[in-house]
Amino acid sequence: MDQKERVLVNEEVVAKSKQWPNFIRAKLGFRNHWYPVLFSDEVKEGEPVKTTLCGENLLVNRVDGKVFAIKDRCLHRGVELSKKLECYTKDTITCWYHAWTYQWKDGLLCDIMTDPGSKMIGKHSLKTYQVQEAKGLLFIFLGDIEPTPLIDDVPPGFLDEGRAIRGMRREVASNWRVAAENGFDSTHVFIHKDSKLIKGNETVLPLGFAPPVDGEEGALWEVVNNESGPKGVYDNIGQHAVPVMEGKIHGETVLRPVIGGNKRIAQQISIWMPGVLKVDPFPDPTLIQFEWYVPKDENTHWYIQTLGREVANAAEEEQFDKEFHGKWKDLGLHGFNDDDIWAREAMEKFYKDDWGWIKEQLFESDGNIVAWRKLASEVNRGIQTLDNL
Ligand code: FES
Ligand SMILES: [Fe+2]
Repeated sequence: MDQKERVLVNEEVVAKSKQWPNFIRAKLGFRNHWYPVLFSDEVKEGEPVKTTLCGENLLVNRVDGKVFAIKDRCLHRGVELSKKLECYTKDTITCWYHAWTYQWKDGLLCDIMTDPGSKMIGKHSLKTYQVQEAKGLLFIFLGDIEPTPLIDDVPPGFLDEGRAIRGMRREVASNWRVAAENGFDSTHVFIHKDSKLIKGNETVLPLGFAPPVDGEEGALWEVVNNESGPKGVYDNIGQHAVPVMEGKIHGETVLRPVIGGNKRIAQQISIWMPGVLKVDPFPDPTLIQFEWYVPKDENTHWYIQTLGREVANAAEEEQFDKEFHGKWKDLGLHGFNDDDIWAREAMEKFYKDDWGWIKEQLFESDGNIVAWRKLASEVNRGIQTLDNL
């Protein structure tokens, strides 16, 4: 990694973080990875949508069914094309200022309407990024290399045939790393102790998951770092961790978890590059939650929450769709995960100036988070730098 690359992070902090320097530097996320940014149905034919990914402003449009993403910044004087959208043909976009006109498919400056003889025409291009639609999501490969297979950047099983996916998207005011660690944090379950999901879905959640007292180091989590395929860390909570069912202070029990029923959920939690969590099963034994923490900019992330269920036919998928909208969205994605959003926003203040990464004091149960940081620091395909913006 070229240390001269400009990142938004305090370099003094990076120098001190010996174990996972590139994770610290990735304040704006990673380069050369697939990130989901929008749902397919949010981008309609000929109606460009403005978005921001890893600090870069983008315009996403559908032309003859295919989705394209171009940088939302005119080559001429740097203005955002989205400030006033002007598209005179379906395959182009024209800058509102001096009419430089670009092709959606490759960003080529194909005409300048105010100076049709300009030598610039045909010689310059706006940056474009490849888009792939899968499971109702639009993934953008934010990078400069030949895109890698999408399957390498999603959790195992997400793209399986027969797995129907439904989801929602929102913007949350925290850095993406704080969000990813909240999701993968095995003792943060404490914040969910009052969740309406527990009674609403007859389940039980302990107050925490402690590492076994006699446990061998590393038995709790497993790092996956193969040549191809997704790279991530499994936390086999259900198998290894000790559920904590009594909250004690000075030896006295002061708190017990709410028991809503005996459904077992969240047996295995795993996190994958470039920042996506899989909770299996969740929020019901018939479902798996896949959720992305997509860097929007240094202070905010897109929280892309999805649930997957195996379905055998269209009727089953329709039933899942009904349940998703009628039950799980409210009970799980809001009822449960709103607590997570609250916690991430509360953490942001401490980590915002980067010194939180040095001042924090981790404990035994954070071992899986440490494994994730090390992996992410090592196996990323690049860091998003200020020079890419
Ligand atoms: S700034 Fe876009 S054409 Fe001049
Ligand atoms: Fe949570």
